[in-house]
Amino acid sequence: MTNIGVLISGRGSNFEAIARNVAASVIPARISLVVSNRPDARGLDLARKMGLNARYIPSQGRTREEFEHDLLAALAEKQVDVICLAGFMRVLSADFVRRFPQRILNIHPSLLPAFPGIDAQKQALEYGVKFTGCTVHFVDETVDAGPVILQAVVTIEDGDTVETLSERILREEHRIYTQALRIVLEERYRIEGRRVLISPEKN
Ligand code: GAR
Repeated sequence: MTNIGVLISGRGSNFEAIARNVAASVIPARISLVVSNRPDARGLDLARKMGLNARYIPSQGRTREEFEHDLLAALAEKQVDVICLAGFMRVLSADFVRRFPQRILNIHPSLLPAFPGIDAQKQALEYGVKFTGCTVHFVDETVDAGPVILQAVVTIEDGDTVETLSERILREEHRIYTQALRIVLEERYRIEGRRVLISPEKN
């Protein structure tokens, strides 16, 4: 069975959705490690309460190399095969990413390549687009620009605030992250250029 490592920095609702679907055998894997780079992350508490192996690895005040050295050691110790970035707010180095080709997934709260970086929902509202959404993509050496696995569209309503919009996007995030993980774990995809072509589920 594949070992998943989930990297978080905060609330951890995407982690929670993944953990529930792992527990329900909807995602064919086990979570062997949860790492937060912030000590006060709600997701870290949650992971501990779920009885998962949860670690705080500090990033603040340290170089990227120091942080990633500890992260790599933890991932190796727990034999992590697939890494899920779930609200993890640090950019991973090219060196790190190269060690896990097509083995790191990220969720981003916009329809990439629109609105990369932070505050994607606020960026979409301020730009005035009528549709936004979320993207699960492979992480490569670029930031928020690896091959797209799945996207979901969310309509922006006139009365939306960052909060109401973020909430609707989040519901879609939870849904497509699980779907994308299943596709990757079941190896139901192939990559042509930048395109991730997905084959149907086997019954
Ligand atoms: C999610 O909306 C996720 O898409 C976003 O942070 C939030 C984390 O929520 N990630 C990024 O913006 C990455 N650039 P969560 O901690 O409840 O999963």
